[in-house]
Amino acid sequence: MPIIRRQGWEIPESRVTPEAAVLGRRTLLAGLAAGPVLGAGSLLGAGAARAGIAAPAMNLPPDPAYPAGRALTTEHAAATYNNYYEFSQDKDLWRAAQKMTIAPWSIRIEGMVAKPRTIGFEDLLAQVKLEERIYRHRCVEAWAMTVPWTGFPMAELVKLADPLPSAKYVVFTTIEQPKSMPGLDSPIFPWPYVEGVTMAEATNPLAFISVGMFGKPLAKQSGAPIRITLPWKYGFKSGKAFVKVAFTDRQPNTFWAQIAPNEYGFWANVNPAVPHPRWSQATERLIGTDDRVPTQIFNGYGPFVASLYAGMKGDMLYR
Ligand code: MTE
Repeated sequence: MPIIRRQGWEIPESRVTPEAAVLGRRTLLAGLAAGPVLGAGSLLGAGAARAGIAAPAMNLPPDPAYPAGRALTTEHAAATYNNYYEFSQDKDLWRAAQKMTIAPWSIRIEGMVAKPRTIGFEDLLAQVKLEERIYRHRCVEAWAMTVPWTGFPMAELVKLADPLPSAKYVVFTTIEQPKSMPGLDSPIFPWPYVEGVTMAEATNPLAFISVGMFGKPLAKQSGAPIRITLPWKYGFKSGKAFVKVAFTDRQPNTFWAQIAPNEYGFWANVNPAVPHPRWSQATERLIGTDDRVPTQIFNGYGPFVASLYAGMKGDMLYR
């Protein structure tokens, strides 16, 4: 993704979070799990109490329909190596992300829907059944993780939103919080972060909305309180902390496509045969171990999603 100051894949390993910071992060995660101190843990606790509902269980058995196919990334590796340009272009942005406010949180549903409305995060959670899925997660920068997400199918969100039959795309807009997000000051980025998928993609069973990770509410740097998770596409399609879901009949002009359309296309399906203009996509580096493994078409999820792209070939799958 990095196009400006420094290539993200060029960040030396010494820039990755030092051990002391990692230990601090572990303490923070423990705090989140234990209760209302910082982050999504407090949001769920307080929000649920306000709404008179029990905080949803996050520690669920993984759905066997989605086998991991490789070892899980450790929680601390996944929580300390992130992309979130609103905070920083550095991978160790997790510290900066703790300044974010995630409660109260609501999501605006608008565009081609029967009834535009705003739904509170807790109200939304009360209307869906949470499940856990272990998904491989592949960044366009050629690194990858394997993460247990807690959430619900994107198809459920679409159903709740009740789009008109003429809607062709779902567009997600993520939060702009100037007080906590220094990256918003950068004039080179076309904020807000906008991503979108076709209705067929959004209702594919693999498309997921995550509210938790590793059996806990999402950490702020991972997209708390609610993010998109599309494991067959490059990670930039999975917007973090969305606040708007809009239905439209026009292909959206997405955040990264506005910056570099030939580098970060709308489709962005993982494809080892289509190199990024500046690097190969044939292999990927596993965060945590640095092992390098071959990249798979659709990140190995072809049996779930290949039929969505029948008739599209090679480059088209990406751009
Ligand atoms: N969402 C927002 N709002 N801002 C971002 O900069 N980066 C994207 C995506 N979602 C990004 C975002 C990119 S490039 C990737 S690879 C994934 O988040 C990274 O998710 P992770 O940090 O949880 O691994």
